[in-house]
Amino acid sequence: MRSPGQILVDVDRAKRVFSAGGAPTVALEKATCRVSVGDRIALVGQSGSGKSTLLHIMAGLDQPTFGTVKWPAFGAVGGLRSGKIGIAFQSQSLVGWLTAVENVALPLQLAGHGEDAHGNAHDALARFGLDHLSDKLPEELSGGQAQRISLVRATITNPPLFVADEPTGQLDRQTGKELVDMLFQWADENEVAVVVATHDLTIAERFRTIWTMQRGLLYPAVGEF
Ligand SMILES: Nc1ncnc2c1ncn2[C@@H]1O[C@H](COP(=O)(O)OP(=O)(O)O)[C@@H](O)[C@H]1O
Ligand SMILES: [Mg+2]
Repeated sequence: MRSPGQILVDVDRAKRVFSAGGAPTVALEKATCRVSVGDRIALVGQSGSGKSTLLHIMAGLDQPTFGTVKWPAFGAVGGLRSGKIGIAFQSQSLVGWLTAVENVALPLQLAGHGEDAHGNAHDALARFGLDHLSDKLPEELSGGQAQRISLVRATITNPPLFVADEPTGQLDRQTGKELVDMLFQWADENEVAVVVATHDLTIAERFRTIWTMQRGLLYPAVGEF
């Protein structure tokens, strides 16, 4: 399942046009890219350059208007549902009436692995240094804390592919650095490919691969932005 170099996501000339309301917006221009087992990719670019759009397409949450996205290792889009791709969203996405540990346990329960979901969720929170927040409700958390809990939730199924949208956006530099350390350690131990969108170059430069986005165009190396 996780042989080195195996392709997890294959995006071929994917274009995304949003056309609700007024003039259409081209959020993504014919992007072609692949993510393979073991990859560490930072996706950088200004706000509005198309990072979230590309991540959502890679994760199967959105479809390209033209072009294709495939998951050779997982089968069709339905195959993604059982915890194959972990997604930490940019915006707050915790379930408001569940505690932090219950939120983290949720993907395991939805995937039918409810037996020790709570124990695993506690371990996952501890691994990211957040166990002291286990019993807090989302409304009792700061924005940065809630975002880190969402990130831990996205790791809980040990997905082959992990995608995070601006995971350090609400953190100070030191906390952001520590989060990336913990994320890499988890990903190394579990052979997880990581794709992270960020506009922070000090975060991006820690990734082996940097992709740059500019006005919907995807470039494979760092450019001016
Ligand atoms: N659901 C949507 N409806 C209309 N326009 C959108 C939508 N999502 C994103 N866009 C537009 O697409 C462009 C790229 O957005 P996005 O992918 O969120 O960029 P980034 O994540 O780099 O900030 C922006 O111009 C944004 O306004
Ligand atoms: Mg975004």
